[in-house]
Amino acid sequence: MTMEAEAAGLVRNPGDVIGKVQDKIIRKKRCSNSSRRKVIIRRSLRPILGLQQLFLSCQEVFKGPGTVPSPNDVQMLCHILDQMTPQDVGLSSDLHFFKPNTDVKAHERVAYATIHQCKKFSLCIFFLPANSVIPLHNHPGMTVFSKLLLGSMHIKSYDWLDNSSSDNHESDPKLKRLARLRANRIFTAPCDTSVLYPTSGGNIHEFTAMTPCAVLDVLGPPYSKDDGRDCSYYKDSPYDATLDVEVKEAKQDECYGWLEEIDLPNDSEMDPIPYLGPQVSVAS
Ligand SMILES: [Fe+2]
Repeated sequence: MTMEAEAAGLVRNPGDVIGKVQDKIIRKKRCSNSSRRKVIIRRSLRPILGLQQLFLSCQEVFKGPGTVPSPNDVQMLCHILDQMTPQDVGLSSDLHFFKPNTDVKAHERVAYATIHQCKKFSLCIFFLPANSVIPLHNHPGMTVFSKLLLGSMHIKSYDWLDNSSSDNHESDPKLKRLARLRANRIFTAPCDTSVLYPTSGGNIHEFTAMTPCAVLDVLGPPYSKDDGRDCSYYKDSPYDATLDVEVKEAKQDECYGWLEEIDLPNDSEMDPIPYLGPQVSVAS
């Protein structure tokens, strides 16, 4: 157990950390009744297989920077993620962190645990205490699959209205740019996987936890400052077609917002914590 895992509220009792569900099942496996043993073994393997299947598929699907998975591959990954449960990554709604009446400390921050990271993709779990926010942020050149495992969160997402106007913004990134609103609603687990692409699907998004949440993210390729894929943060302000200058691309039936790049707010920094759930087998 670590201080960070304890601080993130992922510990209920000594030994009650991410991965406890798996430990419990393995212990039961040692009972003397052989038919019971078979059933339990099957159950105990499922979490490992779910995550391992996701990992192996990611190895096949993500070809590296500058590439986007094919529609068939996106469908396959979504199908795997849609079947996944909190138990697949060693989580349970019984953990203290996910209890709705847990006292929320004002300073509680978002934490994240990395399951695997390589040049082509990463698998990560984000833990959001109730009322915490991951501000609007982008995913440059990335395809991202998000699977809400536990909890209820509000997701707002945008795509740039005009991707070709990026030259002006590279010289002055603080210039406001118009973006099309893609999602603005509450998601509650279990729900389907959402996917965003380098220039569509809501590449810029914001998470606001209505309850304590856990989200499994698959990022391909992962963020990398050295390779020009650093994360930028934004604040949005409403676009009013009657007041703002007319924008050719704007359509009547869609919503828009002005996005302005900001520094990451101090209270929005995230804490890395160790991942203690079932491991993926890299050698497979
Ligand atoms: Fe994100």
